[in-house]
Amino acid sequence: MDVSIIGSGYVGTTVAACFADLGHDVVNVDIDESVVRAINDGDAPIHEPGLDDLVAAHGGDDLRATSDYDAIRETDVTLLALPTPSHDDGSIDLAAMKAGAEAVGEALAGKDGYHLVVVKSTVVPSTTDGTLAPLIADASGKVEGKDFDVAVNPEFLREGSAVEDFREPDKIVLGTTGSERALERLRTLYAPITDAQDAAVVETGRSEAEMIKYANNAFLAAKVSLINDLGNICKEYGVDAYEVADAIGLDDRIGERFLRSGVGWGGSCFPKDVDALRAAARDVGYEPLMLDAAVEVNDRQPERLLALLDDHVDVAGERVAVLGLSFKPGTDDVRNSRAIPVIERLQERSATVVAYDPVAAGEMREHFPDIEYADSAADALAGAHGAVVVTDWDEFAALDGEFDAMADPVVVDGRRIVDRRDGVTYEGLTW
Ligand code: UGA
Repeated sequence: MDVSIIGSGYVGTTVAACFADLGHDVVNVDIDESVVRAINDGDAPIHEPGLDDLVAAHGGDDLRATSDYDAIRETDVTLLALPTPSHDDGSIDLAAMKAGAEAVGEALAGKDGYHLVVVKSTVVPSTTDGTLAPLIADASGKVEGKDFDVAVNPEFLREGSAVEDFREPDKIVLGTTGSERALERLRTLYAPITDAQDAAVVETGRSEAEMIKYANNAFLAAKVSLINDLGNICKEYGVDAYEVADAIGLDDRIGERFLRSGVGWGGSCFPKDVDALRAAARDVGYEPLMLDAAVEVNDRQPERLLALLDDHVDVAGERVAVLGLSFKPGTDDVRNSRAIPVIERLQERSATVVAYDPVAAGEMREHFPDIEYADSAADALAGAHGAVVVTDWDEFAALDGEFDAMADPVVVDGRRIVDRRDGVTYEGLTW
C-alpha cells in the first residue's frame, strides 16, 4: 500500500520505518526540515533499538520524508501520529491534532477517489467523532463515509522496545464507524503482520478504540501503584514485596508482569494519559477515585525513598549519589522520571547531588544544570554519604567494590537492582 504518516516523533518514525520494512511504500510528513533530511539520508531522528537499521535500509527509498502535506494525495491511507501533550490542568491539548487534521483535509480537497485517515495518536473518547472527523470534512469539502473515512488505531509500543513491539503486537485495535472500505484498508495495512502470526485483531467503534488505549495505560499505571501501595505495607511489616509479587503473579487473573514495586512510574505516556483521562472523567461529572489514588501513590514514592535515607544519614551539606536518571532503562528519556522529584527533594535537604546515568545525563542537564554529573557509577559513589537508585540499569547490578569508596556506605534502592552485601547498609524501598 501507499501509506503516509503525519509526524516523525517517536511513534510516527517507528511506525513509518516498520511499515516500510513490511513492504509498504511510506511517506512521512513532518514540519521539521532537519528531521525530513535525516530520514531521507537514512538516519533515524530518535534513539530506539533496531530503528537505525530500518531507517538506513529504507530511508530515501521506500521510506521518504517531506514537509509537504500534498504528498498524502498519492497515498491510500494517512496516519496521524502527532503529539497530544497536556494542558496545565492535565487535560489533553489537541492543538497539534486539530492543525494536522485540517492540513490533511486541505490536501484531500485536491484528491480524486476514496481516502482513509487513521488517528494513531492517543486521544480521549469522542475526539475523532466530535472534533477530528468533522475538521477533515470541513477542510476537504468532502463527505465522510463517501469520499473518505476516519478510523482510530491506537499504538501500544513501549520506548526501548518499540520496533519489536510493532512486529509482534499483543493486539491490533481497529476502531471504525463500521465502514467496510475502511476496515478493508486497515486489514491490508496490517496483513504482513496478521498473516505471519497470531495477533489478536480487535474491530470496534472509534470511541471504544480511543478508550482502549487510555484504559490500557491507566490499568498498567494503577497496577504499578497498587503493587507500590502493597509494597509500602510490606516494608512496614518487614515483608519482602518481591516475594509476595512473585506469588500473586502466578494467579492468571493477576499476571506476573508490571508487578515491580519501587519508586514509581514516569515517562511521557502513563503520567500524561492518566491525567488526560482523569480530566476527561471530571469533564463529564465523574470523580475517578482509583486513578486519583494511583497518581497520589506514585507522587509519594520518591519521598518514601528519601525518608529511608534520612533514617541512616543526615544528608545536609553532604554528597549523595543518584544512580539512574532516565524514567526506565534502555532510554535517555527523562520526561516525568522519578529522578526529578528525588533530586528536588535532595536539594530541599541541602544535599550535594552527584548524578550518574549511562545515557540520560545530557537530557537531565536541562532540568538540573547545576548538579554534578559523574562519568561512572564508581565516580558518583566515591566519597558519597549515601546513594539512591532510581533506574534499574543492568550495570547497577554488577556494582560491588565501588561501594567501598563511599564515605557513608548507605544504599537505598528504588528498583531492586543492587544486591545486599556486607559492609553496606542496604534499604529496599518495598522489601
Ligand atoms: C507505556 C506502555 O507500556 C505502552 O504500551 C504504551 O504504548 C506507551 O506507554 C505509550 O502510551 O506510548 P512506556 O512509557 O514506554 O510504555 O514505558 P513502560 O515500560 O510501560 O514503563 C512505564 C513506567 O512504569 C516506567 O517508569 C517503569 O519504570 C515503571 N514500571 C513498569 C514500574 O515501576 N514497575 C513495573 O513493574 C513496570
